[in-house]
Amino acid sequence: MDFKTQVAAPNGLAGLTADALLVVLTGSSLPAELEAPLAEVLAAAVKDGDFACKPGQCLYAHRVTGVKATRVVFAHAGDGSVKAWRKAVGLGVVQLKAGGSKTLVVAAAGGVELSADHAEALVAAAEDAVYLYRQTKPSAPPAPKLRSVALACTKAQQAALAAGLERGVAVAAGVTLARELANSPGNLATPTGLADAARQLGKSHGLKVEVLDRKDAEKLGMGSFLAVAQGSAEPPKFIVARWMGGTKGAAPVVLVGKGITFDTGGISIKPSAEMDEMKFDMGGAASVLGTLCAVAQMKAKVNLIGVIPACENMPDGKAIKPGDVVTSMSGQTIEILNTDAEGRLILCDALTYAERFKPAVVVDIATLTGACVIALGHHRTGLFSSDDALAAELLAAGEQAQDPAWRMPLDDEYDEGLKSHFADMANVGSRAGGAITAAMFLKRFAGKLRWAHLDIAGTAWKSGAAKGGTGRPVALLTHFVLSRAG
Ligand code: BES
Ligand code: MN
Ligand code: ZN
Repeated sequence: MDFKTQVAAPNGLAGLTADALLVVLTGSSLPAELEAPLAEVLAAAVKDGDFACKPGQCLYAHRVTGVKATRVVFAHAGDGSVKAWRKAVGLGVVQLKAGGSKTLVVAAAGGVELSADHAEALVAAAEDAVYLYRQTKPSAPPAPKLRSVALACTKAQQAALAAGLERGVAVAAGVTLARELANSPGNLATPTGLADAARQLGKSHGLKVEVLDRKDAEKLGMGSFLAVAQGSAEPPKFIVARWMGGTKGAAPVVLVGKGITFDTGGISIKPSAEMDEMKFDMGGAASVLGTLCAVAQMKAKVNLIGVIPACENMPDGKAIKPGDVVTSMSGQTIEILNTDAEGRLILCDALTYAERFKPAVVVDIATLTGACVIALGHHRTGLFSSDDALAAELLAAGEQAQDPAWRMPLDDEYDEGLKSHFADMANVGSRAGGAITAAMFLKRFAGKLRWAHLDIAGTAWKSGAAKGGTGRPVALLTHFVLSRAG
């Protein structure tokens, strides 16, 4: 879809030429500036009990006399907050997407002052409303006809809103890429498949992509990463992708994404019910590629490196067993008490590898623990960091991007459970506080790095009717990286 701004008077909406007009209302009464044909439809709907000035309300009208656009949708955005505006735009586009509209104008009514964040949210909402996974489903309905969306605004607003739309388009491209990768089945999105996707992104977006194989990882001493990979017939890949748009030599931001392309649990095997959902266990990796896509598309003046350890976690005659001790790249030994706690085993070596870039900050992103889903549900990503300034930056990026996180603790007391009789540490503690012990494990490998960890087990994908990848936290990460750009 194509997005642009269009200068229009607030009381000139009826005359706008487009296949459809979406009027986003705010406030508790009908806006005074609407022209008669639009105001009359609304007033009649209110009178008939079919519309109310409340967030979430939506009304469709066809061929309204005196209105140029063939279709009109009214959607209510409550107080006009970016969050409510995004929901309202989404409702409006859902109303229209199955129809014949190719062009849409979106206008605000009710006195809300549109910001660049509103413009960005408009793109996110529209792209989300029309997204459908089709890659392996030839019977899926064809893509909606909608191809051009204009945001009506004043001359004075135009520059800021256009910048917001541009950012929205880049973020949406990244979100869509992450969703597509996450939704791809485990037999296609293998470690090799992920590496191919990274190379393809590199070609289209000007990234330098390097893929290390098992031999390279052996030479580097990645004993922990390779231990997880050893039970699978799929060769592991360690992907490094760089966007060096910043000052030459300036310390990069490094994003490390968990790339378990399928997590059976290994010998500590998972129950079979809903195990298919473990194809989403590369959601962290997908979000790193999505963020690189968005940042490169914006040609941001920043150095950004994505590091993705990718492999499968399978049970096999060669697979790791509970009680096995492995030596990580850092030299620290790990007793693997549960082979299903594999994410931390591949991330620890990736964190050690990241040291060579002398990064400004390192953020790892992982569908790491079921415990995080219990703690925070599906709305907020778990954020862990001992660095208050970095944590604040990430939280702020999440709020601005409508992709929120919530900070969790990392007190030394939580490290107790990782004690092992036979190695420097165990890979699991007790069940209580499981998301935190997982983060404490990673902290042991973050060393002197400025480091944060995002547990996206609850936010990277949805189960149930809307089953699939969400593309989170690409928006949070992109805002975070852009805020660090020169
Ligand atoms: N990939 C899972 C975490 C997960 C679980 C993500 C459910 C999304 C939904 C991870 O590898 C895992 O299995 N974690 C274990 C850790 C435990 C063995 C300490 C878990 O959460 O049960
Ligand atoms: Mn697991
Ligand atoms: Zn996993």
